[in-house]
Amino acid sequence: MNVNANAKKTSLIVLAGLGAAALVAGCASSGAPGASDASVTDAQFKAMMQASFRDEGIAKVDRIQQDAGQAACSTGAAPDEATAKRIEAESLATVKPPSDGKYLGDWKEGEKLAQNGRGMTWTDKSAASSANGGNCYNCHQISKAEISFGTIGPSLYNYGKLRGVTDPSSAAAKPMVEYTWGKLNNAWAYNACSNMPRFGHKGLLDEKQMQHLMALLLDPKSAVNQ
Ligand code: HEC
Repeated sequence: MNVNANAKKTSLIVLAGLGAAALVAGCASSGAPGASDASVTDAQFKAMMQASFRDEGIAKVDRIQQDAGQAACSTGAAPDEATAKRIEAESLATVKPPSDGKYLGDWKEGEKLAQNGRGMTWTDKSAASSANGGNCYNCHQISKAEISFGTIGPSLYNYGKLRGVTDPSSAAAKPMVEYTWGKLNNAWAYNACSNMPRFGHKGLLDEKQMQHLMALLLDPKSAVNQ
C-alpha cells in the first residue's frame, strides 16, 4: 500500500481509537503555559481543552469527552488490577452476539476491510460505519501476501489454524469464535486499555463488516489460514 494510504490509516487511529488520550498527550506536552505545573486544576485543563477544539465536519468536540474506561486508561500508569477487571467486565457486557446468529461472513470482503484505513476524518462526509475500513494491517500482520503491516499488535497470520479451528461452526470452535467476536466488538473485554480500537462498541464497524473480518481470521479457506 502507498504512503497516502498509511497516512489515512494513521488519522483513523488518532481520531477514532486513541482520540482522547492522544489529544490530552498532545496538549500536555505542547509547552502551553502551566502545562507542567501541578497546580493546574482538572477544571482548568478541561476548559482549555474545550476552548482549543471545535466541531469540524463529522468530527465533533464530544470526542474529547472520556468515558470511565478512557479516563482510567489515560493516567499514564496502568490501572490497578481491580480497575482493569472492572473495565474488562463492563466491556464484555457491551458485546452482543450477531443478530442473525452468523459469526462468519466472506473472508475476501474481510481482507478488503483489513486493508482499508479510510474513515472518521473531518473531511469524510459520513461517520457511518459503512464508510469506514478496519485498518487492521496498520497494527497486525494478517495474510502473507501483504508485506506492509504494523507491529503494535501480534501477527494474525494463521490465526484460525494455529488455534485449531477446522470448522468454525463446530462446538469445539465456539470459545475461539466468541472470543474473536468479542475482541473485534470491544477489545477491552479481554484486555483493559488495549491499543486496539473498540470497533463495534464505538460504531467504527457494523455487524456485517465484523462478520467478514471474522471469516478472514477463522475461515479455513481464508488466505490467513493457508
Ligand atoms: C491501533 C492498533 C490496532 C488496530 C488498528 C487493530 N488492532 Fe487488533 N490488536 C492490537 C493490539 C495491541 C492487540 C494485542 C492486545 C490485545 O489483545 O488487545 C490486538 C489484538 C488483536 C486480536 C487478539 C489476538 C490474540 O492472539 O488473541 C485480534 C483477533 C485482533 N487484534 C484483530 C484485529 C482486527 C481484525 C483488526 C481490524 C479490524 C485489528 N485487530 C485492528 C492492536 C490493533
